[in-house]
Amino acid sequence: MRTKLVAGNWKMNKTFQEAEDLTAKITEAVEKLNTANVEVILCPPSPYLEMVLDLTDETHVAVGAQNINEHEFGAYTGEISAPMLSSMEVEYCIVGHSERRKFFAESDEVLALKVNSALRSAIAPIFCCGELLPEREAGNHFKVVKSQIEKALYHLEEKAFRNVVIAYEPVWAIGTGVTATPAQAQEMHAFIRQLITSKYGEMVAQDTLILYGGSCNAANAFELFSQADVDGGLIGGASLKAEEFVEIVSSAINCS
Ligand code: 13P
Repeated sequence: MRTKLVAGNWKMNKTFQEAEDLTAKITEAVEKLNTANVEVILCPPSPYLEMVLDLTDETHVAVGAQNINEHEFGAYTGEISAPMLSSMEVEYCIVGHSERRKFFAESDEVLALKVNSALRSAIAPIFCCGELLPEREAGNHFKVVKSQIEKALYHLEEKAFRNVVIAYEPVWAIGTGVTATPAQAQEMHAFIRQLITSKYGEMVAQDTLILYGGSCNAANAFELFSQADVDGGLIGGASLKAEEFVEIVSSAINCS
């Protein structure tokens, strides 16, 4: 039986004090819930990682970064590497978010290197995939997602792949208030699980967590997470409000 996972991607939001307040409120509330079957992750901006790690120490809240560089160390001004994050005990890292693909021109090839780098440092990549609106309208959404997954993940051995979390984030649903319907999410998640089955076999596919992201909020989380192949969510805007994020975590608990 897969557990559920709810991760908050704060993106480039919050001052340090606001981030402290948000972390404290979320952690305090999550500690009161029964999170035996739900993993909760906060992905703050990098300068706040240490603070969030401190405030969540010995709690049920884990910490993830939003991006890593594909190199381990060296002259890459402004960048942060997987060995740096693992030396701080960061456990997860979002890789291939559509905003990184769009604004920072991250290609599937670079993302494959980032996935490798994360795994070498025992950081679990939360690998994002998802189609643009015109790609869905043209009926190419399955093809796009298949290609993204093949190019960034299919080189992995089974043992390494087992540490990857996949997040399906249709780009047209991110920050738009337009959520994929539960049926649309389920259809794509089942397709992704089938892709994993054909590459790594049924057992690995059944164990892989596939999250949904894109205008997921307290009002729609339960229905989305109740779909057979939706194992939780990667939450943007709604993760910036403690109460709403905790409600989303509760939805994951209630349908796990
Ligand atoms: P929103 O929840 O704000 O649509 O963002 C989703 C997302 O991009 C999470 O990574």
